[in-house]
Amino acid sequence: MDALLKVKDLNAGYEFTNFKTWAVRNVSFELNKGEFLGIAGESGCGKSTLAFGVIRLLMPPGKIFSGSIEFNDIDLMKIDDESLRKMRWKEFSMVFQASMNVLNPVLKVRTQIYNSIKYHVNMTESELEKRAKELLNLVNVSSKYLDAYPHQLSGGMKQRVVIAMALALNPKLVIMDEPTTALDVVVQRRILQEIDELRRQLGFAIIFITHDLSLLVEISDSLAIMYAGQIIEKAPSEKLYAKPLHPYTYGLMHSFPPLVGKRQKLHGIAGRPPDLSSDIKGCPFYPRCEKRINGVCDIENPKLVEIESEHFVACHLYDGK
Ligand SMILES: Nc1ncnc2c1ncn2[C@@H]1O[C@H](COP(=O)(O)OP(=O)(O)O)[C@@H](O)[C@H]1O
Ligand code: SF4
Ligand SMILES: [Mg+2]
Repeated sequence: MDALLKVKDLNAGYEFTNFKTWAVRNVSFELNKGEFLGIAGESGCGKSTLAFGVIRLLMPPGKIFSGSIEFNDIDLMKIDDESLRKMRWKEFSMVFQASMNVLNPVLKVRTQIYNSIKYHVNMTESELEKRAKELLNLVNVSSKYLDAYPHQLSGGMKQRVVIAMALALNPKLVIMDEPTTALDVVVQRRILQEIDELRRQLGFAIIFITHDLSLLVEISDSLAIMYAGQIIEKAPSEKLYAKPLHPYTYGLMHSFPPLVGKRQKLHGIAGRPPDLSSDIKGCPFYPRCEKRINGVCDIENPKLVEIESEHFVACHLYDGK
């Protein structure tokens, strides 16, 4: 398959004079053109740092410490700031947590959509209007709201407008970092389904980040589970749901109620994730893991390895140790 994004051994975090937070640790993954990848994990596990990092949007004190990122065969680690600025929105765009608040309260929707296009392409006023209507149409917002101010829209509609802006220049990749978290569950699900329909229609790839794994059920092509800055399991979604291998993934999947099928007993995961500003010896899940192997798991951090076709897991239960 055609890889659009290749991330290799990425390390990133936040650097201060007296300490460093290592929020993304040796992360490697590939994303194909048009693929929908879901990234899930508890709050604070490094999802946002990874999202901002892979499109070089991490601002100080955030920093990429090492690793390589290739987007459409372009080395994003070597590219200059101006070229990177040109690529943003056009090649890849981002809708982030609570991004409905990025809408300027004193500007009409029309002006904000126009501005997101005008910076990159020359269009006449009537072309801009046509495109803005098209975009609102795509996200199921009536074009009569072009002349509305953000406060006249509901939360879901504001989020749809922001998604429309992210799609304005037909990017090849849209990264969505908990874009629907502020909305109620029913609206979240509906917007996610609509985003997926748009992806099928327009062909862009998606990285969708959430702390709520249940939201991705039946929608994402593949899933990566993050824990303490690392991807600890990655597989096509149906494989991961049918057979989660990592004890943390298993715990995560049994800590939310299934949407369909029989009711199950829910289990939380006892304990807390490790502090990302300290060195972690051994498997980061060791203190919380019911299956830990003393003398092995506390000594060596397992690498992410392919156990079955396309099913990667970082756990000593599977690497012969
Ligand atoms: N601006 C920042 N300055 C310092 N530390 C940060 C900053 N943003 C995030 N972190 C730290 O980086 C780690 C990962 O955070 P983040 O990537 O936001 O996780 P997630 O998106 O999964 O909740 C956390 O320990 C968090 O405290
Ligand atoms: S490596 Fe060991 S401690 Fe870590 S998840 Fe696997 S069994 Fe548990
Ligand atoms: Mg986040």
